[in-house]
Formats: sequence, structure tokens, C-alpha cells
Amino acid sequence: MELCIIGSGYVGLVTGACFAEVGHSVICVDNDQRKVDMLQAGKIPIYEPGLEELVMRNVAANRLRFTNSIQEGVDGSQVIFIAVPTPPQPDGSVDMTFIERVAREIASALKPGQYRVVVDKSTVPVKTGERVAATIQRYNKEASFDVVSNPEFLREGCAVPDLMKPDRIVIGCGSERATDLMKRVYEPFMAPILVTDINSAELIKHAANSFLSLKISYINAVSAICEASGADVEMVADGIGMDRRIGRQFLNAGLGYGGSCFPKDVKAFIAIAEEIGVPFGLLKEVERINESQLERFLRKMRDGLWVLKDKKIAVWGLTFKPDTDDVRNSVPIELINRLVNEGASVTAYDPKGMEKAREWNLIPDSVKLSATPLEAIDGAEALVIATEWKDFANQNLNDVRKRMHTPLVFDGRNLFDPQTMKDLGFIYYGVGRAAAK
Ligand code: UDX
Repeated sequence: MELCIIGSGYVGLVTGACFAEVGHSVICVDNDQRKVDMLQAGKIPIYEPGLEELVMRNVAANRLRFTNSIQEGVDGSQVIFIAVPTPPQPDGSVDMTFIERVAREIASALKPGQYRVVVDKSTVPVKTGERVAATIQRYNKEASFDVVSNPEFLREGCAVPDLMKPDRIVIGCGSERATDLMKRVYEPFMAPILVTDINSAELIKHAANSFLSLKISYINAVSAICEASGADVEMVADGIGMDRRIGRQFLNAGLGYGGSCFPKDVKAFIAIAEEIGVPFGLLKEVERINESQLERFLRKMRDGLWVLKDKKIAVWGLTFKPDTDDVRNSVPIELINRLVNEGASVTAYDPKGMEKAREWNLIPDSVKLSATPLEAIDGAEALVIATEWKDFANQNLNDVRKRMHTPLVFDGRNLFDPQTMKDLGFIYYGVGRAAAK
């Protein structure tokens, strides 16, 4: 099929590449000419495992191309996906400017008698589909189209496998013709398809992400109880996670959730619920627990180091999670800023996130960035593990201890085992775990 994806960010680009991989002919549109030039020259603006090969292969096979023209995309495609950002506004509600503009642009590009399916892939408030349809109609009375909500559930860092082998495809649609076309788009993925009305599909996305955030906040709240009672949150998570009704995934206690989805989507869901007159207090508590997790971690650091001012602290990890270069809304970045504000001298290392953290001025200039994890800890009085990169777990811990000035480790992701760390001579603090005896 001929498909058009408007917006070549994380979601748009990976979706376009995966659609091309299963044999569709895909045109990706972006209004950022620099990005289009880069992609046309074979350069991928983001780091996502497996994406570069996928893009290269499909560009070479003539199944994937890039343009800045919505007209070109709309002219040649049966199905048009919208994958533009829906950033949060200061009050937590969603900024719909980009979606609205794209809806207007699609309206002016649609030719009479030319049926198109317009699919919303961006995460949007419930009832957006209705508004997109009304907007297209208002700006083009002759347009023949249907609007579909098809939320995307991919995770950064494993976006390609998530998209190629999804748990489910949600198609929110009120028209049989559009549903049939959408089923054809997804047929090659051989995944379960759930067809719903548009409003339900839109709600599924916010409800799913908020539920996963709730799971993380739940285990983080349990981690505080574990610390106060001498229990071990990893064992508790294993024990409850073995119940198939609960599952072990997303029960990893740590510094709290970050990234460009969970914080934004929980806030948006709270605002959406508020707006339609059904306040969602449970989610406000989810947020509160998430924020308090970093505070508790900092208290632990103050407890271990007494005073943070002038302490030489190494931080491993800048990205909001491993296997990505994404440093937006990253708890590790927030942590580093807090440490610097308290006067600590911070040296950091991250396998993929250092360039963007600097480029976007997310960390103070005083933070030194090291070429290797070991270089970062030279003479450090404490090491913080802020992101659970495999690279960190594979370090030789004897070398780590020898290079440090004092062997204090604050492990914000429970990457190491407390007893092993103690046996190696470290003073070790995890999250929700009693210190080894
Ligand atoms: C998330 C959803 O998983 C995905 O379905 C949706 O489409 C977009 O939002 P993403 O933000 O890429 O994906 O990452 P995810 O792996 O879900 O992690 C989000 C945050 O939660 C990270 O900061 C991570 O460190 C944190 N997390 C995750 C935990 O603290 N504990 C866990 O057990 C799992």
C-alpha cells in the first residue's frame, strides 16, 4: 500500500521504516528541511537500535522516501498517518497546535473525489479525532475521508522490535471502509487487532501509559516501606510479579519514571479527566510518589556523604533509560542539576546521551563529561548509578573501587547486588534494599 507519515520524529520515523520493511511504499514528511536533508543523505537524527539499517535497506529498495511536502504525501497515499508532537503546556494540558495545523494542511492538500484515511498516531486527548474530522471538513468541503485513531505503544530503545511484533494494534474507527484499509496496512504484522470507536482508542493510550506509571509508582512506594522495614524490594517485586495477573514487568523500583511519555501522559490524563468533570485523584498520587522518589534518593546521598558541597561525585547515566540517546525529561539529568545546585563537583558518563545533554544545555557547564565510565570515577568520593546501561553492569568492580577516592556507591537502579558490593569493599546504597549485613 502507499502510505504517508507526517512527522519524522521517534514515532513517525520508526513507524515509516517498519511499514516499509513489511513491503508498503512509504513517504515520510517533515517540515524541518534540515531533518529531511539528513534523512535523504542517509543520516538518522536519533539513536534507536536497528533503525539505521532498517532505513538504509528500505531507502535502497525504493520503499521509503522523505519530503517536506504534505501535498506530495497526500497525493500519492491511500492512508495518511499523523505523528507530530503533542507537547505538554505549563498547566499539564496538551498543546494541540501541531495536530491542528497538520489537519488544516491535509484539508488543503485533499483533492475532490480522492478518498483518504487520516490516521492519528500521536498521543492525543479523547475526542481529538472528532475535532480533526471537523477541521478537515471546515477547510475543505469537498474532501472525502475518514479519521482513525491508531495509538502507538512503542518504547524508546526497543522501538523497532516493539513495532514489528506489537502486543496489539488498536484501530479506533467508525467506518467500515477505513477499518478494512487499516487491517490491510497491519496484516503483515500478524498481531491481534482490536477495533474500537475513536474515543475509546484515544483513551486506551492515556489509560495504558498511566497504568504503567502507576505500576512504577506503586513499587517505588513499596520500596520506601522496604527501606524502613529492612525488606528487599527486588524480592518483593519478584514475589508479586510471579502472579500472572500482576506480572514482573514495570515493577523495577528506581529514581522514578521519566522520558517524553509517562510524565506528560499522566499529567495530560489528569487534565483531560478534570476537564470532563471526573477528577482522577489516584493519578495525582502517582505523580507525587514519582517526584518524592528522587527526593528520598538525595536524602540518602546526604545521609551517606553528610555534606554534598565540594564532594567529587561521579554519575553514570544521563539518558532517561538505557539503549536510547534521549535525555529529555530525564531523571538522571534532574539529579545532576540538583547535585550541582548543592555545590557538588560532578563528572558524568553516558554511552549515548552526552552529546545531546551538552547540545541542549541540559547540564551546567561545570559538569565534566568523561570518555569512559572508569575515567569518570577517578578520585570520586561517590558513584551514582542513574541509568541501568549494560555497559555499567559489565565494569570490573575491583577497578572501580581502586579508582575511587572513597568507595561509596548510590545505585539508583538496583543494578548491583548489595552483598556482592559489600564483599568487594563498597559502601552500597540501593533503592528499597537494606544494606548488606
Ligand atoms: C513508554 C511506554 O512503555 C510505551 O508503551 C509508550 O508508547 C511510550 O512511553 P518509553 O517512555 O520509551 O515508553 O520507556 P519505558 O521503557 O516505558 O520507560 C519509561 C520510564 O519508566 C523510564 O524512565 C524508565 O526508567 C522508567 N521505568 C520503567 C521504571 O522506573 N521502572 C520500570 O519498571 C520500568
